[in-house]
Amino acid sequence: MDLCIIGSGYVGLVSGACFAEVGHHVVCVDNDQRKVDMLQAGQIPIYEPGLEELVHRNVAARRLRFTNSIEDGVDHSQIVFIAVPTPPQVDGSVDLTYIERVAREIAGVLKPGQYRVVVDKSTVPVKTGEKVADTIKRYNKGAEFDVVSNPEFLREGCAVPDLMSPDRIVIGSASDRATDLMKRVYEPFQAPILVTDVNSAELIKHAANSFLSLKISYINAVAAICEASGADVEMVADGIGMDKRIGRNFLNAGLGYGGSCFPKDVKAFIAISKQLGTPFKLLEEVERINGSMLTRFIEKVREKLWVLKDKNIAVWGMTFKPDTDDVRNSVAIDLINHLAGAGAHVTAYDPKGAEKAVEWKLIDPAKVKICATPLEACKDAECLILATEWKEFANQDFDAVKAAMHTPLIFDGRNLFSPETMRDFGFTYYAVGRAGAK
Ligand code: UGA
Repeated sequence: MDLCIIGSGYVGLVSGACFAEVGHHVVCVDNDQRKVDMLQAGQIPIYEPGLEELVHRNVAARRLRFTNSIEDGVDHSQIVFIAVPTPPQVDGSVDLTYIERVAREIAGVLKPGQYRVVVDKSTVPVKTGEKVADTIKRYNKGAEFDVVSNPEFLREGCAVPDLMSPDRIVIGSASDRATDLMKRVYEPFQAPILVTDVNSAELIKHAANSFLSLKISYINAVAAICEASGADVEMVADGIGMDKRIGRNFLNAGLGYGGSCFPKDVKAFIAISKQLGTPFKLLEEVERINGSMLTRFIEKVREKLWVLKDKNIAVWGMTFKPDTDDVRNSVAIDLINHLAGAGAHVTAYDPKGAEKAVEWKLIDPAKVKICATPLEACKDAECLILATEWKEFANQDFDAVKAAMHTPLIFDGRNLFSPETMRDFGFTYYAVGRAGAK
C-alpha cells in the first residue's frame, strides 16, 4: 500500500521504517528541513536499536523516502498518518496546535475525488478525531476522507521489535471502508486487531499509559514500605508478579518513571478527566508517589554523605531509560542537576545520552563533568550513583571501580546490581526498597 506519515519523530520514523519493511511504500513528511536533509543523506536523527539498518535497507529498496511536502505525501498515499508531537501545556492539558495545523494542511492539499484515510497516531485526548474531521471539512468542503484513531504503543529503546510484533493493534474507526484499508496495512504484522469507535481508541492510549505508570508508582510505594520494614521489593515484585492477573512487567522499583510519555500522559489524563467532570484522583497520587522517589533517594545520599557540597559524586546514566539517547524528562538528569545545584562535583557518564544532554542544555558542562567511560567518572568519587540501568553498567570491572573511587559506596537508583555481589566486592551498597542493601 502507499502510505504517508506526517512527522518523523520516534513514532513517525519508526512506524514509517517498519511499514516499509513489510512491503508498503512509505513517504515520511517533516517540516523540519534539517531533519529531512539528514534522513535523505542516510543519517538517523535518533538512536534506536535496529532503526538505522531498517531505514537504509528500505530506502535502498525504494520503499521509503523523505520529503518536506505534505502535498507530495498526501497525493501519493491512500492513508495519511499523523505522528506529530502533542506536548503538554502548563496546566497539564495537551497542546494540539500541531495536530490542528496538520489537519488544515491536509485539507489544503486534498483534491476532489481523492479519498483518503487520515489516521491519528499521536497520543491525543479523547474526542480529538472529531475535531480533526471538523477541521478538514471546514477547510475543504468537498474533501472525501475518514478519520481513524490508531494509537501507537512502542517503547523507546525497543521501538522496532515493539512495532514489528505488537501485542495488539487498535483501530478506532466509524467507517467500514477505512477499517478495511487499515486492516490491510497491518495484515503483514500478524498481530491481534481490536476495532473500536474513535473515542475508545483515543482513550485506550491514555488509559494504558496511565495504568502502566500506576503499576510503577504502586511498586515504588511498596518499596518505601519494604525499606521501613526490612523486606525486599524485588522479592515482593517477583511474588506478586507471578500471579498472571498482575504480571511481573513494569513492577521495577527505582527512581520513578520519566521520558516524554508517562509524565505527560498521566497529567493529560488527569486534565481530561477534570474537563469531563469525572476527576481521576488516583492518578494524582500516582504522580505524587513518582515525584517523591527522587526526593527520598537524594535524602538517602545526603544522609550518608552528610553534606553534598564539594563531594565528588559519580553518576552512571543520563537517559530516561536504557537503549535510547533520549534525555527528555529524565529523572537521571534531574538527579544530576540537583546534586550539582547543591554544590557537589558531579562526574557523569552515559553510553548514548551525554551529547544530547549538553546540546539541549539540560546539563551544563561547566558544572557537571561529562566523562568518556564509566571508570573515568568514578575517579576519586566519594560515592557512585546508578541512575539508568544500562546493561553495560552491570558488566563493569568492579575491582577497578572500587580502586578508582575514594570511598566504596554505591547508591543504586534502579536496583540493577545484586546486594550480595556488591558486598562481596567490598562496597557499601544502597538500593531502592531492598533489605539486603543497607
Ligand atoms: C511508554 C509506553 O511503555 C509505550 O507503550 C508507549 O507507546 C510510549 O510510552 C508512548 O506513549 O509513546 P516509553 O516511555 O518509551 O514507553 O518507555 P517505558 O519503557 O514505558 O519507560 C517509561 C519510564 O518508566 C522510564 O523512565 C522507565 O525507567 C520507567 N519504568 C518502567 C520504571 O520505573 N519501572 C518499570 O518497571 C518500568
